[in-house]
Formats: sequence, structure tokens, C-alpha cells
Amino acid sequence: MFFKKDTPSEEKNSLINLFKNHISPGKVAFFKKYHMDFVMGHRNGSWLCDLDGTKKLFNLHSNGGVFNLGHRNKEISDVLKSQLNFYDIGNHHLLSKPRAKLAALLAKLLPGNLNYTIFGVSGGEAIDTAIKVARAFTKRTKIISVYGGYHGHTGLALQTGDMSYRVPFLFDSTDFIQVPFNDLESLKAVLKNDVAAVILETIPATLGMLMPEEDYLKTVKELCQSNKSLLILDEVQAGLGRTGKLWAFEHFDVIPDMVVLAKGLSGGIYPITATIINDKLIDVFKDDPFIHISTSGGAELGCAVVQKVLEITAHVDFLKHVNSMAILFAEVLQDLQKKHNSFFRGVRQKGLMIGLELTDSLAGPALTKAAYDNDLLLIYANNDTSVVQLLPSLVITETDIAYIVKQLDKALKQAKLLHKALILKKGLGQLFK
Ligand SMILES: Cc1ncc(COP(=O)(O)O)c(C=O)c1O
Repeated sequence: MFFKKDTPSEEKNSLINLFKNHISPGKVAFFKKYHMDFVMGHRNGSWLCDLDGTKKLFNLHSNGGVFNLGHRNKEISDVLKSQLNFYDIGNHHLLSKPRAKLAALLAKLLPGNLNYTIFGVSGGEAIDTAIKVARAFTKRTKIISVYGGYHGHTGLALQTGDMSYRVPFLFDSTDFIQVPFNDLESLKAVLKNDVAAVILETIPATLGMLMPEEDYLKTVKELCQSNKSLLILDEVQAGLGRTGKLWAFEHFDVIPDMVVLAKGLSGGIYPITATIINDKLIDVFKDDPFIHISTSGGAELGCAVVQKVLEITAHVDFLKHVNSMAILFAEVLQDLQKKHNSFFRGVRQKGLMIGLELTDSLAGPALTKAAYDNDLLLIYANNDTSVVQLLPSLVITETDIAYIVKQLDKALKQAKLLHKALILKKGLGQLFK
């Protein structure tokens, strides 16, 4: 009764079958079950269209920040097109002008001694690199992360994350320790002289945009310093203007030893990531500068894309825009929260990094589905499903916000009914991993 049904076109049906037979039968079955078998077709700005044009969605998830500047941002794609006349991936053994210029720009935009960049392709790879550097520098093996944090699905990144992602793949090393976020006492208890680094998302997104308590990050850095451990901040989702400052850690009066950037760095067009390390850590590569490589990391074509992303994102007017949209969002969300307060309990927000706190763990999946039925793509936080993440593009407008509020209001009404049905039937499963 709650599910809208559309009849898919022949082309769409056959693509869904290809996906089922050659990529993931499980995902196809899941999306079909919930009548969410959307196949991405045309996309532009904040909008996504289904392949057969029967449905459109306003993207309020932005793939965790990949689409900070919207889908197919023209300025970004023009840069990529122009680079194709001259560049390709480049050669990871050789010196490179685009990589050198981009690394210098990152150093200029980052505070402190964060002066060296190691490029990669995926966020997980960039986290793995940070952990490798921490271990090589400190000659220690242990890494502390937080329960419910998320840093990727590659080897070392996976080890810092939730058990549910590790156990099926038989990853269970005692070198990786977890403590609750915002809990300094638990951290102190495990921060011993065998700890290479503490790794945190500045604002943990998969945990539902939990905000660091006052002085938490600053104290973590001080504790690390006195223990000769390193602090790695993962700004894969929180960085690049998302919170209204270029770097989210700027809100918290802390400078990490390493910063990891991914997702939005790509401009949604060319995958590229960066592990930026401080001056002292470059010593790790003193004896052998070839001990770490990434063949396509920092591809020369992608470097120009990132230059443009940074030029747009670091601009004072851009950050002003993010902050004024954030104020508007705060106002309208407060009104919606009052109206639906039995279901919608509160808002976590820093700039346009927003979490909607809902009544319980079934409410996030319920609102995700109801939002989809009302043409909004938003997704609950996988490690706290009582929270729905709201990550609009940073180029969102007042008109967009008026549309979102109208649709979200309808979605909240529908989600309450769906939520009741879920309580009776128990569970919508995990909608999106
Ligand atoms: C905070 C954070 N760190 C790291 C990653 C890993 O990035 P990737 O999926 O590009 O490996 C993600 C991905 O969602 C993330 O949200």
C-alpha cells in the first residue's frame, strides 16, 4: 500500500537483468522488493532522472560529497575536456607539472605544516596510505578509531571500521582498537606507547553527523602529541566547504598531522584523492622514495579538475553562500521538526552537513523510502539508522530549499505511516550499504 509501482521500459528491464546477471543479483532483488529500481539516466545539477524518464530525484545525498558542486558541473567538465587535448593519466614514476602544482596549492590552502601530498584514486586507498605513513614514522602498529566511524572498505581502512564490514572478510586484527566518539576517558585508556595513530572523521557521517563536543578534537590532538602518536583527520565528507569552512577541522581549533581528502575532490568528474602529511612525516620516504606507488593516483587529467574544484570551493563568496544556505536550512528544518516532532526529534548541523534525528532505528529506512517516493534522494546513516543524512550540493539555491521543504514535509507524513507498518512487520532491512 505504501509502494508506488512504475512499469519499467524494455531497455530498463533488460539493463536490470544485465546488472542482476553480471554485477549483483542481491542488489537487484533488494531494490525491486522496495520498488526503488531506479537506474541513473540523465543527471544535471541536483537532479537525477531515471533511465526511462519515469522518475526524477533531487539529490540530497550527493554521494557523501562527490557532487558538492552538483552533477556534471559545467566549469569542471570544461576543464576536463580542455585537458584531454594535452594530458592523460601520466606516469607515476616520473616528475609531473600538474601534480606538483596541485600539491603546492593544497599546501597553500591547508594550515600548519601540511605540505606534502600523496595522491590516490579512492578514499579507502588514501586512508590506507595515511595508516602506512603513521606506522612507518612511529614504528608502532596500533591504530585507534571510533565505533561507527567509516573510512572505507580497503585493507587498512576496513580494519578501522564497523565489525559488520570486517567479519565477513575475516579481518580481525588486534592492532586496530575502537573507542566511542567524544569519549576522552576511553581514548586515554588505550592510548599507549604502541599506538601509531588515532584516526577520526572530523564529523562522523556514517555515524549520523555526530558533532564533536567542545575541545574534543583539540584534546585528542594534545593526547596524541604527548604520547608521540599521530592524529589523522578524515575530511572525505566533511572537507571542501561542506561545513561552511574550507576544512571542517577549522571549526575545532585543531590541526592534524595528516588530512585525507576524497569524494568532492573529484568534482564528481574525475576520481582522485589526497593524503596530505606534515613536513616531519616525509622522512618516511627518505631512504626509499619509491616504497609507495599508485599507478593512477593523481592522474594528470584529474589534477586540473581538482585545481578548479579548489579554486571554486576556497573562494570567500562560495563559503558565504554555503553559510547562508545553512542558515536557511536551519530555519526550515526547525519548523518541520516542530510539526513532526513525534517522529523527527532534532537536527545535527554544521554548515550543509546535516543529520535529521528520528525516533528510532526503523525511522531512517522509513524516511529514506518515503523521501524516494516524494522525489528526494536522501539516505539514512548506516551506523546509526535513526539518523537521516542531508548532504545537498553546496551550490543549492533558495528555490531548491523551498522545493525540498515541500517534499520533505510530505515524506515525513508518509514515513510515519511506513514506520508504523515496519514496527509491525519488523524491518525494511538495510536500504543502502
Ligand atoms: C568518511 C569517509 N572516509 C573514507 C571513505 C572511503 O572512500 P572511497 O569509497 O572512495 O574508498 C568514505 C566513503 O564513503 C567516507 O565516507
